[in-house]
Amino acid sequence: MDSARLNRLGAACLLAVLAVGASWGIAHTAVPEPLPARSGVAIPRPEVPAGGSIDELVAGASVEKGRAIADRQCAMCHSMGPGGPAIIGPNLYGVVGTHVGDIPGYEFSDALKAHKDETWTNATLSRWLGGPADYAPGTKMSFPGIASETDRADVIAYLRSLHPEKPE
Ligand code: HEC
Repeated sequence: MDSARLNRLGAACLLAVLAVGASWGIAHTAVPEPLPARSGVAIPRPEVPAGGSIDELVAGASVEKGRAIADRQCAMCHSMGPGGPAIIGPNLYGVVGTHVGDIPGYEFSDALKAHKDETWTNATLSRWLGGPADYAPGTKMSFPGIASETDRADVIAYLRSLHPEKPE
């Protein structure tokens, strides 16, 4: 085979590969897979990236680690015991499950009160603690946030533990 013929053969192969690639690409663009299930209900965007929902993370989280993080990062502004005083922020005993910005006797910012229809769940707490100023721009909680999702889960597990024993 002379080199001109080899070149032609090479070019032909290349074209074939390109053609297959292109049609694969077109096919995949034209037919998205998997076909999205159409439902009438808007599917909320998941709060957390792949790797487990925040509920799963909290279920497997460490209350002890959460307490240690809170001692270092929250205690200067928040008391955690039953009937504790407001420091810079409100007392956080029993906060999980209550409405946002709804602790009697504490004057919340309008920024946080704007969320008062929401309750403190794993998901809202994770968003809040991940970046208070993102969740409630203008909040008076001057705290940069906890970047690590597992650290947030530990803190949330600790906050969840702060409630009276439920009667059997
Ligand atoms: C520099 C002081 C400061 C630090 C540190 C701080 N907070 Fe706060 N926190 C506040 C203030 C002030 C508010 C009230 C915010 C507002 O009204 O905008 C608040 C509000 C909150 C609320 C909302 C309470 C409710 O009933 O709506 C939660 C929950 C909370 N903080 C948790 C934490 C946790 C957990 C940490 C530690 C990881 C922390 N905070 C660290 C000052 C602080």
